[in-house]
Amino acid sequence: MLNTTFWKKYFEVYDLLNELIPYRELLDKICEELDVKNGDLVLDAGAGTGNLGVEIEKRDGRVVGFDLSPEGLGIHKKKTPFAELVIGDLSRPLPFENNYFDKICSNNTIYTIPRKYREDIFREFYRVLKPRGKVVVSNITLGFNPFKIYLTHIKQSFRKIGIMNTMLKVIKLAIPTIKIFYYNHLIQKEDRSGRYDFFEVDEQKDLLRKTGFTNISENKSVYVGQAVLNTAIK
Ligand SMILES: C[S@@+](CC[C@H](N)C(=O)[O-])C[C@H]1O[C@@H](n2cnc3c(N)ncnc32)[C@H](O)[C@@H]1O
Repeated sequence: MLNTTFWKKYFEVYDLLNELIPYRELLDKICEELDVKNGDLVLDAGAGTGNLGVEIEKRDGRVVGFDLSPEGLGIHKKKTPFAELVIGDLSRPLPFENNYFDKICSNNTIYTIPRKYREDIFREFYRVLKPRGKVVVSNITLGFNPFKIYLTHIKQSFRKIGIMNTMLKVIKLAIPTIKIFYYNHLIQKEDRSGRYDFFEVDEQKDLLRKTGFTNISENKSVYVGQAVLNTAIK
């Protein structure tokens, strides 16, 4: 499993992702699917630096950010003063009561946790979610290629702010961009060495079904085809 030292280093540059149009679109899609209503209590499982938490608060949701990394949650705290942040390990029982959350989301997190823990993670989501509560999960899938995300961003940015402004931004952000590619390379290497596994295309859907969820959506291809999103109801 990638440890907290890895995430600590990665978090020094992680929020550069906020500059990438496909990442922003992914966060928007998750919020749209979550359909946050005023006052909804939402668990963000693997909250990291809180980019999703910011979006949930904008939509008047109450965020509980759960993550292994104190450094990630430290950055999260600065962005979302109202969020409750809890340090913990998703591969262990969650420190929340049964039927506690209105909604649960988890973005690009469970794929970094070995397959043997995943069913228990979804079981815990089921336990802490209120009856009729909604879960939205998105994870990177096999064949992950971060270059596709970057190239799509460049193309979309050309259209949005023009070639000149895009190139200036690319140059300005060159060093953190290279670091992000390096950390993604390490993630891919972990996958190839078999220490953990990117998601199989139907894996999320199967886990949701096995752990008792209903109304499981078809796979939705997100993040420039690099991830699959599913929604379900308890
Ligand atoms: C790629 S980041 C995604 C962060 C955030 N969800 C986002 O959308 O940007 C993966 C996150 O999973 C967290 N994580 C990895 N293993 C974990 C575990 N076993 N328990 C809790 N969090 C974990 C890491 O600390 C990191 O914040």
